[in-house]
Amino acid sequence: MSRTATLTLDGKTIELPVFEGSEGEVGIDITQLRAQTGAIAYDPAFGNTGACKSAITFIDGDKGILRYRGIPIEQFVDSPNFIEVAQLLINGKLPAQEELVRFRARLTANAHVHEGMRHHFEGFPPEAPPMAILSAMINALFCYDPHFSVESDEEFEDAAASLLSKVRTIAAYTYRKSNGLPFMYPDPNLRYCGNFLHMMFSMPYERYEVAPEVEEALNLILILHADHEQNCSTSTVRVVGSSRANLFASVSAGVCALWGPLHGGANVAVMEMLDQIHRGGLAPEQCIKMAKDKSSGFKLMGFGHRVYKNFDPRARVLKDSCDKVLAKLGKKDPLLDIARKLEELALNDPYFVDRKLYPNVDFYSGIILRAMGIPLNMFTVMFAIGRMPGWIAQWKEQHDDSSVRIARPRQIYTGNKLTDYVPLAKRK
Ligand code: ACO
Repeated sequence: MSRTATLTLDGKTIELPVFEGSEGEVGIDITQLRAQTGAIAYDPAFGNTGACKSAITFIDGDKGILRYRGIPIEQFVDSPNFIEVAQLLINGKLPAQEELVRFRARLTANAHVHEGMRHHFEGFPPEAPPMAILSAMINALFCYDPHFSVESDEEFEDAAASLLSKVRTIAAYTYRKSNGLPFMYPDPNLRYCGNFLHMMFSMPYERYEVAPEVEEALNLILILHADHEQNCSTSTVRVVGSSRANLFASVSAGVCALWGPLHGGANVAVMEMLDQIHRGGLAPEQCIKMAKDKSSGFKLMGFGHRVYKNFDPRARVLKDSCDKVLAKLGKKDPLLDIARKLEELALNDPYFVDRKLYPNVDFYSGIILRAMGIPLNMFTVMFAIGRMPGWIAQWKEQHDDSSVRIARPRQIYTGNKLTDYVPLAKRK
């Protein structure tokens, strides 16, 4: 007999179907709740709401597990290859050699942006935030390819490669624009991460030599950000996509959601916090004290997570990698010592222990990005480049599911009861 959950409301009892995911998580299907009871489920911030079934990424927040298509993220660390992971997420399986080669060729063929788009960059003021430019330019991509189609596998692979490739070019151009530097065209001889670094840092008269250590560190960072199931930005991509909005429009909205300091923008906020401590403006102990004081409005940035009530496995990998990457690059960063000190203080403080607040992915990623020479205002853009395969995979999974309906939450109305309009002359 199939499992059900019993709900009694105002004396009426209904049975709600219960189902299990492949890792044993239990879902109560409430799709008929309103039809059967007239009531709706109330769950602001969706902490208890499964908005979809998905076969892409698995997280066990209590155990600190993150797997892409079943593969633990730790298994991608030794020889990180972002494009291989992107194909895994998007296509559902690791690519065979010839599939990897074919996808790489598509990335190369799509690396440029339309010359017309270069002029859009000129319209932004010099201090425009890179995330605003990134979102606008991803949306603008559609204007240059309004007839693109994703209906066949071939077409979808081309669209995915185009978006993945162009987003890297747009990101680099964003940096060049904000620094008044000439745009560097992509180099077909470089791989994904190397090409990005070239477009960021080469000059027409002086080529940036891509160090293998930097390229490897970038591959790792991007892989660790590649997908994270139904977080704020991915849910945004799905909600926008559910209206049948195109891939570019949906992902562009995801970039905006990622921008906020409670989500991807936390990697900037962490570095600002560490830097403030470094410059003597704030002692680590004072920082912890403020984070515990709700009236301060201050949070320990890079700490805590809606899903992880244990170490974020990405933070664990990044913490281990910090030393190695800095040593390989021959750099020292005093902010790393401060980060370690803060972590030690927090993990020994009952406030953080009781609430199961651990470092998240943003706590250590900035130190590696900084060592690679990536400027602070580009940190969240780096997160967005990394998250692109996840957004594409999630959009596609939803697109292919013919049972998906437009996302349209309900509300509990708490406003005025029926009220009469009062003409202006009679208003007090
Ligand atoms: N510093 C201080 N207190 C915190 C922090 C923090 N970083 N994070 C959570 N808390 C407190 C909450 O105030 C709450 O306290 P209470 O029970 O006394 O009211 C308790 O811990 C539980 O909080 P949650 O309900 O688990 O937090 P929520 O799921 O709403 O938010 C979030 C998660 C946004 C990540 C939060 O932990 C936070 O703001 N962290 C700092 C910002 C950050 O690092 N964001 C990046 C997240 S990872 C990512 O998006 C890629």
